[in-house]
Amino acid sequence: MKTGMYVKFSVKLSKLKDKQASCTVIGAFQSTPLQGLAAKVDDLTQGAISKRIKNGDFKVENNETIVLYDVPGLRTEKLVVVGYGKPKDLDIKKFREACAAVIRKLQAIHVNTASLWLLSDEVKDHEYTGKARHLVESMGDTVYRFDSMKSKKDESQSINLVLNVSTQAQLRNTRQGIKQGQAINTGVTLAKNLGNLPGNVCTPSYLAQQARNLQKKYPIKTRVLGQSQMEKLGMGALLSVSRGSRQPPKLIVMEYRAGLRTRHPVVLVGKGLTFDAGGISLKPAAKMDEMKYDMCGAASVFGALVAAAELKLPLNVIGLIPSSENLPDGAANKPGDIVTSLSKKTIEVLNTDAEGRLILCDALTYAERFKPSVVIDIATLTGACVVALGNHTSGLMANNQQLADELVEAGEKSLDKAWQLPLGEDYQSQLDSNFADIANIGGPSAGAITAGCFLSRFTEDYKWAHLDIAGTAWRSGKAKGATGRVVPLLSQFLIDRSDKH
Ligand code: BES
Ligand code: MN
Ligand code: ZN
Repeated sequence: MKTGMYVKFSVKLSKLKDKQASCTVIGAFQSTPLQGLAAKVDDLTQGAISKRIKNGDFKVENNETIVLYDVPGLRTEKLVVVGYGKPKDLDIKKFREACAAVIRKLQAIHVNTASLWLLSDEVKDHEYTGKARHLVESMGDTVYRFDSMKSKKDESQSINLVLNVSTQAQLRNTRQGIKQGQAINTGVTLAKNLGNLPGNVCTPSYLAQQARNLQKKYPIKTRVLGQSQMEKLGMGALLSVSRGSRQPPKLIVMEYRAGLRTRHPVVLVGKGLTFDAGGISLKPAAKMDEMKYDMCGAASVFGALVAAAELKLPLNVIGLIPSSENLPDGAANKPGDIVTSLSKKTIEVLNTDAEGRLILCDALTYAERFKPSVVIDIATLTGACVVALGNHTSGLMANNQQLADELVEAGEKSLDKAWQLPLGEDYQSQLDSNFADIANIGGPSAGAITAGCFLSRFTEDYKWAHLDIAGTAWRSGKAKGATGRVVPLLSQFLIDRSDKH
């Protein structure tokens, strides 16, 4: 799938004065007099920037850009200056916003090659590797368009950006940052593309085919279990959901094994519900189209595996994707039905719209056979998580505090944040059933947590964490579209693990 624009990044050791470029980009802090590189450029250009500040054209606020043409003293046709706001406020998040503003401006003025001098600017707690990586991620995220389903596509353009640095060490670190940023962008773009596809295209079979296709490009081995294999295994919970639909269910297994053979793998389990109408407990019509995004957990797993493979991380990672639709057919689950899961535990389906946990629990039991070092499931699991944390932060629950801490840290580093919610006895009892081992809903309070509690009943034999991405996986309204989250968090987690082991 092609998107509207492709950004190519490279790095060069160079000096500002000698550099010839059709377009030069620098950053400026809000300070009088100007400081750092902006002050130097201002001197060279006989005050071109400070004049614009003085006459009120440029307030140097974060995200604000100006374009200066034919400035004296620099061998460039256009000089783009992006504001950073106050020096003490420039953290990596604001730096990313400034980078997004730059690429938007370059697109608007139809630049196809530019020379960037942004990395020497001070960003709180960040060195060249991190700055370069976030610059690449931010720009990639900004230029993304999904037009594969439109009859007229945006003209495919590419833009070449050179990141300038002044020492060998900066060169090395910037290269590393670009590499990571591009790998994560590749994963994020794949996750967005899969998420944005409509339910009539992106079915369980389509996801399975995409997983098989990964084998052509990456050292990933894919197997797909079909309905009859799942029947033989006894995946009664997963199968009860897919019975309500005409699309056959799939359990996709993707193995990326680039670590020592003796190393136990990280298993990522992604909810691949390609359309969630709620089943017999039918959802209301408003915004129901957004339930095509109910496979964004699966999309994150695709993205993280691809990022790991792009970076050739020396790790063993397994992606497991239970995939189904949730529709109200005559054979669908009915409220009160009792199904038997792969773990042999029986489940009373009190609400057929709590289907994510039903397909996940069988995949989580299946995960045991990989002797995992840790298992992380990723799911657009509950509306309650959106109520609790909104659209900025993913929900995190775990049966192992060290794993939870690692994920929170990965979220902070990658600016793809997660916040831990509690699990525990007090909440577990909300899942008691009069007729089966466990009910599939825990009542109106603490819905995100009781969903986590449900999953925890199937993960007792290994270290496990659960990421609820119901609020973070896509945007609604005018900017409707998949975000590619939590690919950055998972990629960071895998990068950090491969450093340690
Ligand atoms: N896929 C939904 C969760 C969801 C809803 C994500 C809205 C994002 C926005 C999930 O399958 C679901 O329907 N969950 C129910 C659970 C309830 C019946 C206990 C929910 O959250 O309403
Ligand atoms: Mn549902
Ligand atoms: Zn769902």
